[in-house]
Amino acid sequence: MNTQGQVRIETSQNIGIIHFQTEKLNVLSHALRHDLYQAIQQLLLNNEIRSIILYGGEKAFSAGADIHEFSQGIHLEFPSLHDLFDLISNASKPIVAAISGVAFGGGLELALACHHRIVHEKSQLALPEVHLGLLPGAAGTQLLPRYIGVERALNTILSGKPLKLDTLNETALIDVLTEESVLSAALAFATQSVGTVYHIKNINIESDEALLQHLENQRAQLKKHTNTVVQNAIIDAIEASIEQNFQAGFLKEQQLFKMLTESAESKSLRHAFFAEREIKNIPDLAQNIQAQPVQKVAVIGAGTMGSGIAICFLNAGFSVTLIENNQAALERGLGLIGQYFDGQISKGRLTEEKATNIQKNLSTTLDYAALSQVDLAVEAVFEDWEVKTSVLQKMDEYLPESAILASNTSTLDLNELAKVTKRPEAVVGLHFFSPAQVMPLLEIVRTELTSQQTLVTALDIGKRLRKVAVVAGVCDGFIGNRMLNEYLRIAGLLIDAGASPYQIDQALEQWGMAMGPFRMCDMAGNDIGYLIRKQQLKMNPNKKFSGIADLLVEQQRLGQKTKKGWYDYSQGNRRGDQDAEVIQLIEDYRQAQGIEAKTFSNEEIVERCIYALTNEGFRLLEEGIALRSSDIDVVYLAGYGFPRWRGGPMFYAEQQGLDVMKNRIQQFAEDLYSDASFWQIPTLLAKKVA
Ligand code: NAI
Repeated sequence: MNTQGQVRIETSQNIGIIHFQTEKLNVLSHALRHDLYQAIQQLLLNNEIRSIILYGGEKAFSAGADIHEFSQGIHLEFPSLHDLFDLISNASKPIVAAISGVAFGGGLELALACHHRIVHEKSQLALPEVHLGLLPGAAGTQLLPRYIGVERALNTILSGKPLKLDTLNETALIDVLTEESVLSAALAFATQSVGTVYHIKNINIESDEALLQHLENQRAQLKKHTNTVVQNAIIDAIEASIEQNFQAGFLKEQQLFKMLTESAESKSLRHAFFAEREIKNIPDLAQNIQAQPVQKVAVIGAGTMGSGIAICFLNAGFSVTLIENNQAALERGLGLIGQYFDGQISKGRLTEEKATNIQKNLSTTLDYAALSQVDLAVEAVFEDWEVKTSVLQKMDEYLPESAILASNTSTLDLNELAKVTKRPEAVVGLHFFSPAQVMPLLEIVRTELTSQQTLVTALDIGKRLRKVAVVAGVCDGFIGNRMLNEYLRIAGLLIDAGASPYQIDQALEQWGMAMGPFRMCDMAGNDIGYLIRKQQLKMNPNKKFSGIADLLVEQQRLGQKTKKGWYDYSQGNRRGDQDAEVIQLIEDYRQAQGIEAKTFSNEEIVERCIYALTNEGFRLLEEGIALRSSDIDVVYLAGYGFPRWRGGPMFYAEQQGLDVMKNRIQQFAEDLYSDASFWQIPTLLAKKVA
């Protein structure tokens, strides 16, 4: 295997320069490691050469290890990063890393193995393994403390953030920090500094009380959080760099790294990482279709969503025309947008000048004729069939022939909405989540008639907005909300059967959900769920819902906005306090229904709620609404506070074993108090288990 000429040697006087540049930012795949190893060996054997420079080009020294290799153990095949490390650090000639662009993870460790580093001032040096549930496993935890001190190294590895280069000039990490070409600087350096080779790994870090205390304090901090296996392992590895020789510390790092690569958390985080990269691959899209140019955008409706969507486009550099049907609503929307930018200024995220400049790209009007000037219009008007269809027809009437017609509808049938226009192929759903300027998720809803050109353009828009854009087909609730509705329904039925909303929230929050289902309903407004239930009952009168949520709404307990919902917010506590009135309401309800309350363990609550998500997820896959199960995971990670270290609902169920899920579903279906019609085994699940 080789990188097909992407590694080449150039010699200049007595210096050997190894140029390496692959399409994938010099990710240290087996092929690249192999070619680098050979090139270094060749130069080490060449008596003419007195020093060696590793140069990965301007864009990247290396973006790190090839994570794909971890699951099959290819990362350990000769030459592994460790073999490269040994070759470099034991070399008899000085090896200099010339770093420009990114040096991440294994890429930075490769540079740490070198005897010297010449660094461009704009480059980014980081050990971001923690985000994948790992620690740097090619001596990073042993070398970085030796270069920049234990505390700094620990912070860097725990945070995964790039090092602040201008603070490192005094350390052994950086020999030269330059704004010029790193290759020229490395050549000048190598010419002057030919001589003995010393390596930092031979220096031991002395122990001292303050240092050990610092590590203990960090461990104590972690006790306040759940799921800190990785962070604790990082502290253990760093501790192993103190007071003992490199080899002993390195051995410890290897044990911890192996433990982490095999952990469920790291597998989940790696799954999430790949799942997020997979979403843009749409299997049936023709390769040659280009996104249409979109620069001018109209947002119709300046309510909660419309103003948030306008902010998203403004922040991404589009010019935006906000259209309303009444002046008061337009001004309210403008007020919301203004408030947002003021907030950004006061939080120091934007300068006043920048905020003003961005807002210069915003115009407002009550006249739909303004649509004739834009490339894309997104409607975010009332969720009402008559209102939406009339707005879509106006969009059709005024928009230029090539424009895209997008709708932010969350519940209406987009296949039917598209058909009220004369160009259904140009209609697509852009389903933002509230608050649109904050939530990363965007569902791109493709109707039966959406053209490939329109879809490609929508994907491009999603990318430019820096959203996590997942393609979904048309159905009630698309991917995210359709699953959520079942999750909430099953959670509601658990209350009927005997659990309290507080136990349910607590069980799911302890398990890792950012917010329990009832706290979430209180935040969104219980009236919204009420309307959805009524709507669903119209379509399916036999659907089984808990009646308690309706009682709350009838008593005006709408959630945070009325200061009372499932929780009591009257004391100003944003998370809300448990409320005896709600408990009483539930007990009265059970009595009236003749229900004898059953006790549930937290585990069972979690199982029922999470399998409710997964069960519906399988149906979405069967119907082709979601393209892949990993897309469903991405929707839940980006939009619903699902714990990333559990990978997403579909991945989680797979890790537990799909046979386990199938058996549990069978058991749920037999309970008197649960919904047997929902707990039917999806064909796809049965097939996978078989
Ligand atoms: P909203 O009630 O806050 O805003 C709707 C706005 O549309 C109002 O300002 C209204 O004056 C304006 N409007 C109504 N008819 C109009 C017309 N003919 N021309 C121009 N403007 C008109 O509603 P919200 O919450 O912003 O929802 C808007 C859309 O976004 C709905 O389709 C909703 O389903 C969807 N959505 C809402 C989410 C949420 O969490 N609120 C999340 C995702 C989607």
